[in-house]
Amino acid sequence: MARADLLCELIKAGLRKDDMTFRRATQAICAEERTKQHEILANKIEQLLKENPEQTTYTSRNPSMHTINSINSIPKHLFEEKMPEKRLEQLLLPDNVVETCRAIIEEQIRADLLRSYGLEPRNKILLIGPPGNGKTSLAEAIAEALMVPLITVRYDTIIGAYLGETASRLSKLFEYASTRQCVLFFDEFDTIGKERGDQHETGEIKRVVSSLLLQIDSLPSYVVAIAATNHDALLDQAVWRRFQMKLELPKPTRANLEKWFVLFEKRMNFSFGLAPSTLAKKLYGKSYAEAEEFAFSVFRQYILNGPSVKTKNITNTQLRLCGYQTEEK
Ligand SMILES: Nc1ncnc2c1ncn2[C@@H]1O[C@H](COP(=O)(O)OP(=O)(O)OP(=O)(O)O)[C@@H](O)[C@H]1O
Ligand SMILES: [Mg+2]
Repeated sequence: MARADLLCELIKAGLRKDDMTFRRATQAICAEERTKQHEILANKIEQLLKENPEQTTYTSRNPSMHTINSINSIPKHLFEEKMPEKRLEQLLLPDNVVETCRAIIEEQIRADLLRSYGLEPRNKILLIGPPGNGKTSLAEAIAEALMVPLITVRYDTIIGAYLGETASRLSKLFEYASTRQCVLFFDEFDTIGKERGDQHETGEIKRVVSSLLLQIDSLPSYVVAIAATNHDALLDQAVWRRFQMKLELPKPTRANLEKWFVLFEKRMNFSFGLAPSTLAKKLYGKSYAEAEEFAFSVFRQYILNGPSVKTKNITNTQLRLCGYQTEEK
């Protein structure tokens, strides 16, 4: 049985002939049934939504252009969907980031209690930080904690050559995402969420960003929207405002790097032959992704060379080859 508040919303919207709210309430019921593993009912509701596509009229500067026939089939080419594997505990993150993520996860898991008090769980997160320090991994880890799929938006197929096409595809994508609980991930968000005042951008891009922001605004709270960027300076104020939380994922400190090498040794049941603190000193200033790349290059050689070669020598060789200084004699 669907939640009472959703049923009431559905009935009110039906009586008011408010198609948009009616569809959103239906999507929420569909997502709820799916969470309860009522797949047959959820599929049936989804099918009904597809058979009766919405006629969305955008009241933007050029409304005539934006009459969109929404979802007819699952727009698989517009996103990549995966069941998440990475876990929050596997990442080294600043305390405030971990605490905020845990709070959001709890709000999402216990959303029913919040809703009974007229509150919605938070669902819009912006991750900012230099490459290779966990933005994509964190989006996956949040999806894993929520036990929902990670849907990563593909800009290459979303951004179309023809006027109006991109907004229409975005609309399809959001409609699909709204039929289920999921993490909707916008990687390299600056690609699409760029400063709308940018002189070089065409009118099309500006319209796309406006449409994207509207869509993010009206996402149901059971869809967790996560956007990641390396260049927060490129995002305009209107984009920033949309996100309830902005989390910074900085490069690792030396202590964090040392911790990372200790964890790697434990995970692989292997030793670099040099102290983790020494490795952290040599790789200081690098990202976690670079540390990982280096660690695996050593580990590969260790596997290939077998026990006859000293691991310390392999580590030193890889330090040299990767351009990190070798151990002082
Ligand atoms: N904070 C972290 N703790 C542990 N491992 C990390 C962390 N950040 C990144 N890594 C490792 O580095 C790899 C790359 O990280 P990830 O793709 O999440 O970075 P990113 O911030 O999304 O980078 P980009 O900006 O290039 O997309 C991952 O495989 C992950 O295992
Ligand atoms: Mg990434």
